[in-house]
Amino acid sequence: MSRFKAVIFDLDGVITDTAHYHYLAWKRLAESQGVHFDHAFNENLKGIDRLGSLDLILASSKRAYTREEKLALADEKNLHYQELIATMSAADLLPGAVRALDTVRARGLRIGLASVSKNAFTVLGRLGITDKFDYVVDAATIARGKPDPEIFLKAARELGVAPEDCLGVEDAVAGVASIKSAGMFALGIGHPFVLTQADVVITSLSDFNLESY
Ligand code: BG6
Ligand code: MG
Repeated sequence: MSRFKAVIFDLDGVITDTAHYHYLAWKRLAESQGVHFDHAFNENLKGIDRLGSLDLILASSKRAYTREEKLALADEKNLHYQELIATMSAADLLPGAVRALDTVRARGLRIGLASVSKNAFTVLGRLGITDKFDYVVDAATIARGKPDPEIFLKAARELGVAPEDCLGVEDAVAGVASIKSAGMFALGIGHPFVLTQADVVITSLSDFNLESY
């Protein structure tokens, strides 16, 4: 028996490892602007939406950008990213992801997805797991990205479950903060010394054990 009524998953870094594709696409874009970009910097972008990520990257540029220029650069990065994810398949599912989703379903809990990625529907389709979710938040309808609680609260509302009855699953510091300010239990995927706000941290969904949270 689980004390929760719903589990709301993040996508990137939890169900599939798209961080590397985001890294490649941002690196290409950053270098086109003469901005150095490496793996360490990419870590700061986990869970941060597209325009928020671009602002962080351009902060180290010598020149200023207009709103229009920023939107064009964000579109350019997204085209690089879409080229990279076009060949994704079920082979890109992280270990334990399908078993975790199926366990939650078998226990009769509701399942939501709260990703700020506007490519989430495409990625779910490529992975072949769209129908495993009762509700997927459309990131285009979200005004404030993580760490704001808006996206997790919207998922809970649409699933018809109170936030305190939800378990949120996240790999990013900003994402865990979003879950906690939504008033949910936070299961972190990663390292406890990074995800300090999480209630419990596991290394990957291979260690997911619904009954123990
Ligand atoms: C998050 C990723 O899930 O989605 C971020 O962790 C990414 O790295 C964000 O910037 C937005 O993604 P997209 O696909 O809308 O550019
Ligand atoms: Mg993530």
